[in-house]
Amino acid sequence: MTTASAPGKVYLFGEHAVVYGEPAVPCAISRRARVTVERRGDSRLHVHAEDLSLDGFTVEYSGEADATPDVDVSTDLVEAAMGYVDAAVSQAREAAGVPEAGFDVTVESAIPLGAGLGSSAAVVVAGIDAATRELGVELSTTEIADRAYRAEYDVQEGQASRADTFCSATGGAVRVEGEDCRAIDAPDLPFVIGFDGGAGNTGELVAGVRELREHYSFAANTVETVGDIVRQGERALAAGDLAELGTLMDFNHGLLSALGVSSRSLDRMVWAARDAGAHGAKLTGAGGGGCIVALDETEETETALRFTPGCEEGFRAELDAEGVRVE
Ligand code: PMV
Repeated sequence: MTTASAPGKVYLFGEHAVVYGEPAVPCAISRRARVTVERRGDSRLHVHAEDLSLDGFTVEYSGEADATPDVDVSTDLVEAAMGYVDAAVSQAREAAGVPEAGFDVTVESAIPLGAGLGSSAAVVVAGIDAATRELGVELSTTEIADRAYRAEYDVQEGQASRADTFCSATGGAVRVEGEDCRAIDAPDLPFVIGFDGGAGNTGELVAGVRELREHYSFAANTVETVGDIVRQGERALAAGDLAELGTLMDFNHGLLSALGVSSRSLDRMVWAARDAGAHGAKLTGAGGGGCIVALDETEETETALRFTPGCEEGFRAELDAEGVRVE
């Protein structure tokens, strides 16, 4: 039996624009998905998933990967998680050259599904590491990141950047631009996250931005401007300038909002954080619902989020320097 875990992430800057070759800076956070695998005597895949996410409820699903789960949360989300486990196992079978390997898989995740915190990437990264090790093969972090990207690409039908999977595999702050992914230095970042209890549909949101870009030259310019913010943000990160990072996050959120990927609840949480004195705040990930990230070293933003209509949870998360690891 082998267990591996991998962190979720927030986008400090650059989601959506990264799809068009602009740089992005995701940062790993101290919330992990753990995947335990045990080789079976046959070639079947049996998946048990527990969602240990923020509001404390636990989802349990035991069944075959292609069965319809009988659970009390969005079935779509749980089914999607099963798809990611399936894709991770396929990558592990291929990497180890054992196409017929069957597994019992247990997923325990403290990262809400589809909420912009990289839950699927964390499950895929940890799943590939655990399953290959169970087959006696140890992959490099770079190969885990690459295979995890391919798994996400398959499940998301071509709509995936390398950002989430690379960040989850390596940990820390990373810079992603096209195929070029690397770790970058970052100070301790006082992340506060607000979660509205919902999720966005990444495919639809990415398609919406694509349509706007095709229709309006100023939407294409907006995407490029996000790239400029990211480049400036990298300098602020290197200088450890939290005030400047916050200003740039606010700007980035405004442009994401202009591109149609924010929502009322995300905007409310962003404003609650700003009113509470955060350095800055923005949505993280695909948007449409899910999470915002703010920078605040005080307790004010966390407290304010608890009283913000539409916010289900406000919590602090550390930048996690450690990527995928064996447990
Ligand atoms: O919501 P998430 O964490 O899957 O992030 C999506 C980020 C996008 O830039 C919108 C898409 C991508 O694959 O980069």
